Amino acid sequence: MSQLKVSTLKNIPAEITVPGDKSISHRSVMFAGLCEGSTVIDNFLSSEDCVCSLEAMKSLGAECEVLKTDSRGKPVKMIITGHGMKLREPDGIVDCGNSGTTMRLLSGILAAQPFKTIMTGDESLRRRPMKRVADPLELMGAKVRGQGTKVQAPITIKGGDLNAITYTLPMASAQVKSAVLLAGWNTFGKTTVIEPVKTRDHTERLLAHFGVKCVRDGNAISIYGGQKPEPNDLYVPGDISSAAFWMVAAAASPEAKLVLKNVGLNPTRTGIIDVLLRMGAHITDAVTVSDGEPRGNVVVRGTELRGTTIGGAEIPNVIDELPILAVAAALAQGETIIKDAGELRVKETDRISAVAQNLQLMGVPVQEFEDGMVITGGQALHGAELECYHDHRIAMAFAIAGLFAEGVTTINGTDCIATSYPSFEQHLEQFLKEPRDPEELTHVIDQIPPLKPVSQSASAVESESSER
Ligand code: S3P
Repeated sequence: MSQLKVSTLKNIPAEITVPGDKSISHRSVMFAGLCEGSTVIDNFLSSEDCVCSLEAMKSLGAECEVLKTDSRGKPVKMIITGHGMKLREPDGIVDCGNSGTTMRLLSGILAAQPFKTIMTGDESLRRRPMKRVADPLELMGAKVRGQGTKVQAPITIKGGDLNAITYTLPMASAQVKSAVLLAGWNTFGKTTVIEPVKTRDHTERLLAHFGVKCVRDGNAISIYGGQKPEPNDLYVPGDISSAAFWMVAAAASPEAKLVLKNVGLNPTRTGIIDVLLRMGAHITDAVTVSDGEPRGNVVVRGTELRGTTIGGAEIPNVIDELPILAVAAALAQGETIIKDAGELRVKETDRISAVAQNLQLMGVPVQEFEDGMVITGGQALHGAELECYHDHRIAMAFAIAGLFAEGVTTINGTDCIATSYPSFEQHLEQFLKEPRDPEELTHVIDQIPPLKPVSQSASAVESESSER
């Protein structure tokens, strides 16, 4: 079992380029694999989760020619060649590893294929509920079988001709929304998903990139079945959920300046910036849009943070960032309330209980509730031996907490970090070595193009997306 030992922060590097976005990488290989023809995908996140989606699509008949690999020999640039919407029955069981996104989105795709597929995953994925995708897909006519009342993996999907439906999501979940839209895409008629609050819209944007239209009317998103996707090359922006760890490290260090380059700035994902601004951090970004997704450089300037409340419609926008925001809360003055976040209990681990337990072990007062927690910040953190419960985001969030603690923080079981951010430890090392020359740092900051305040760039994104 791998272990990460973190000591107190010595330096904030001038800039970091985080790897490609996980949500977009999964979708890129799935949708390119459903096209007739070839698509070049660049800056693909070569993490274990996304490689599971790639391998799954290969087992379903898509071809992959690798053009560039990372230092571990995993693909970051490749040509995906698909043979249209009719996939091939896989020879064996499809292994989704730790990846809920792979299993849930593929369920939607497989529901419309006329063969039986078995999907499984690691111990953590086999505990997660698949009933949330099984219910709507069964309503459409697919047969989805799993273990117990939560329909846990291994699951079997027998697809075929489906009926279009209108489905109201019982929870805010982009994965379930996507599964229903993907099943509807291969079905005659109009399928509509109504979400309780807006969730990440990468499926809708990426389908549009491949020429397939979804229509949004308030919280209802519809797709007409039978639209043929066209291959279209794609560059995946950096993952804001990975950048979030460094945003917090810089935001909580008064006087620090950090530039995060080429980060995905889709407005359904930038809640982390809004929350850190409320906590007092200074953050600016410069947005451009390419391949349907906003992206740009983010500059974070540190300060003494203050507590805030995170809840309601903002939750889906920060769902993956709540562990690191809880760490920011521990470093802030005053109380932070996280509420309406019950979904955290069904992630890779129960993230409410894991965060509360680890913060308490580091000396932070935390009160845990069914759907959130109250964190009293501003106390000195001390190093401790922590578990991450096979959850990459718990491991990385507490590595950042370790940077602000006295003594050494040991995190056990950190190999799970490779599911979303294989180069995390290399980037972390830059915070643990002696500082660079401040002159050099200023020079790097000066090279960054002129910045727009966040409010301006956010409105630019709104009009861009409403035009589509
Ligand atoms: C994801 C959606 C979110 C998120 C997950 C990735 C996606 O899950 O937590 O990491 O790519 O659609 P839910 O849809 O279950 O909230």
